[in-house]
Amino acid sequence: MGKESLPVQTMARAAVQDMLVPSVKSIKERRMKTQAALKIDHLTKDFGHGRGIFDVSFEVYPGEVFGFLGPNGAGKTTTIRHIMGFTKPGHGSVTVQGLDATTAYSQVMKHVGYLPGEVALPESVTGWKFIKTAQQMRHVKDDGYLKKLIEMFDLDLSVNTKQMSLGNKRKLAVIAAFLADPEILILDEPTSGLDPAMQETFINFMVSEKRRGKTILLSSHIFPEVEATCDRIAIIKDGRIVSQVDANKLQSKDKKTFELFFANQAALQQAGNELGGTIEHDHLDVTVPNDKLTQFFNSQLKGRQVTRLNEVKFDLEKYFLDFYRTDKVFKTI
Ligand SMILES: Nc1ncnc2c1ncn2[C@@H]1O[C@H](COP(=O)(O)OP(=O)(O)OP(=O)(O)O)[C@@H](O)[C@H]1O
Ligand SMILES: [Mg+2]
Repeated sequence: MGKESLPVQTMARAAVQDMLVPSVKSIKERRMKTQAALKIDHLTKDFGHGRGIFDVSFEVYPGEVFGFLGPNGAGKTTTIRHIMGFTKPGHGSVTVQGLDATTAYSQVMKHVGYLPGEVALPESVTGWKFIKTAQQMRHVKDDGYLKKLIEMFDLDLSVNTKQMSLGNKRKLAVIAAFLADPEILILDEPTSGLDPAMQETFINFMVSEKRRGKTILLSSHIFPEVEATCDRIAIIKDGRIVSQVDANKLQSKDKKTFELFFANQAALQQAGNELGGTIEHDHLDVTVPNDKLTQFFNSQLKGRQVTRLNEVKFDLEKYFLDFYRTDKVFKTI
């Protein structure tokens, strides 16, 4: 049956559904053509007694910010330590820019800056002394990027590490880790234990690095920083990846969901039939791509007896807490 011969209601529904499905094909195609900056392939490290990581696989593409979430003891740091070449895989492999993380360790380090979860600084050196040592180790001659970092983190480097607060130690570690301006940043819970102002400084740093095209792996428990920065997110639980999601879809960056209330049940039913979406008790839930919003309001809603409209914001934290607390296995979306 041709589209012309379909009943009007079915055609209207098909038209709306067409515009409700966002096209992610081009993003996926682009990813498939590019070499992954980080490729974690069936990585397994069995510490015994059910501890460790098992068959962990994911890829991070150049310019992506990849969130790595999971409860305490889930396996985030263990995975990251493999990326950094600190530990050998039991099974599987890790490559960084196509280089094996274990065997090509020194080459890999040229591409990567790493901020560990627990920062251990030498005591009784000034910030400057520590930075100079890091510069020499990294063979960094150009101070330009270092100056930007110092300005961004607003840190007094003349202070001795012994007298620095946790937040300032973390800032110093960030400056030391990234002063060589590496193209890949590995951040293991960079803001845990920091106050909201300090967290914001870190989020601003990640956003500005993302704008500069950096590839970032961010392990985190802090939802606002994940929401503000990540393109894709993997959730690890009990050493296994249980979900990989596209943050754009979760956060509805490219589409909006509305609850529509109508003057009566008949109007609600008719809108459900013609617009698609889901009738939920006394209202209709409809998701509309941002580029179709004008058409939706001016044409699809025209003449309908809408009495109220709410935008429904996706709750990232709730979504992930569901994972943390239950044995739920979500589909990859
Ligand atoms: N060297 C080791 N020897 C034995 N077990 C280990 C070792 N390193 C980690 N583990 C265990 O492996 C599991 C994963 O630990 P990991 O530190 O990777 O978790 P995590 O997700 O980083 O947790 P957190 O959020 O608390 O930092 C835990 O059960 C931990 O006890
Ligand atoms: Mg950890």
